[in-house]
Amino acid sequence: MATHPALKAGQVAVITGAASGIGLATARRFTELGMRVCLVDLNESALRGIVDELAAVAPNGGADVLAIGADVSNDAAVRSLANHVTNAFGPVAVVMANAGIEPGSKALQAGSSWRRILDTNLWGAINIVHAFTPGMVESDAPGAIIVTGSKQGITCPPGNAAYNVSKAGVKVFTEQVAHALRQETDGRVSAHLLIPGFTFTGFTRANYDEKPAGAWEPEQVVDMLVDGMAKDEFYILCPDNDVTRQMDEKRIRWAANDIIENRPALSRWHPDYEATFAAYMAEDKS
Ligand SMILES: NC(=O)c1ccc[n+]([C@@H]2O[C@H](COP(=O)([O-])OP(=O)(O)OC[C@H]3O[C@@H](n4cnc5c(N)ncnc54)[C@H](O)[C@@H]3O)[C@@H](O)[C@H]2O)c1
Repeated sequence: MATHPALKAGQVAVITGAASGIGLATARRFTELGMRVCLVDLNESALRGIVDELAAVAPNGGADVLAIGADVSNDAAVRSLANHVTNAFGPVAVVMANAGIEPGSKALQAGSSWRRILDTNLWGAINIVHAFTPGMVESDAPGAIIVTGSKQGITCPPGNAAYNVSKAGVKVFTEQVAHALRQETDGRVSAHLLIPGFTFTGFTRANYDEKPAGAWEPEQVVDMLVDGMAKDEFYILCPDNDVTRQMDEKRIRWAANDIIENRPALSRWHPDYEATFAAYMAEDKS
């Protein structure tokens, strides 16, 4: 099967949020591909156990695996991380800005979680991309930037306002990065917005003892990521066991039509539109 040219044995990948969930599953997959992987996470102790596991699979054992405890929201720490990785491993081919948090937040309530969510989810992605991309642009080698977004930054369901704002920012930021990379590298370095559906990870484990039937395993998200990158897809939109791609497409179209049809904000959750939205979702356009 064809793969993205940067996902090759011996190439270096940096993954943030690699101690758990989608980041960890990606680190495992990239190691299986023979890549040299740098795991980055705030949770340094969790990383330690993972290093041995990955070293057992990596072609050159422990020499192919690096684990660095770092806070992606700290710009200085991220820049020193980029120096450290490049000194230890050489040029970086793949960067995945994936670390994220989802504590609650309310639209009308100030609180520390607003700043923490934006610092981690949005500034964390910006810091990582800005620290690693210049070196990738300057080199002659194929490269890929992956940023983990969310449907909550596209259809924006009410409930966790700061998280939605952060992921809407991540979407727009990654689109801008993709455009700039297209201009500057003519596609040699690509950008990808990974949009997971409901996935059983550290995020969801806080609320469920075992995997809910509707959730995907993180490995399924990584299957879509690797496949989407091979097809040079920018938007890698994952379904889950409850939500099909067709349902996602309809929800995204409805959200865009709020502006075009001048409906109230988030009309999908407005009582006056409840019946219309339900009928729209039930329509079979296939
Ligand atoms: N699980 C889902 O259903 C779902 C759905 C859509 C999007 N996402 C996104 O997927 C990404 C990965 O999340 P996950 O579901 O695997 O959750 P997870 O909790 O299993 O993994 C997130 C990891 O990020 C790390 N992290 C948090 N703050 C950090 C920081 N400041 N610096 C470095 N590392 C930090 C955590 O320690 C953790 O290991 C997130 O960006 C999340 O928003 C998840």
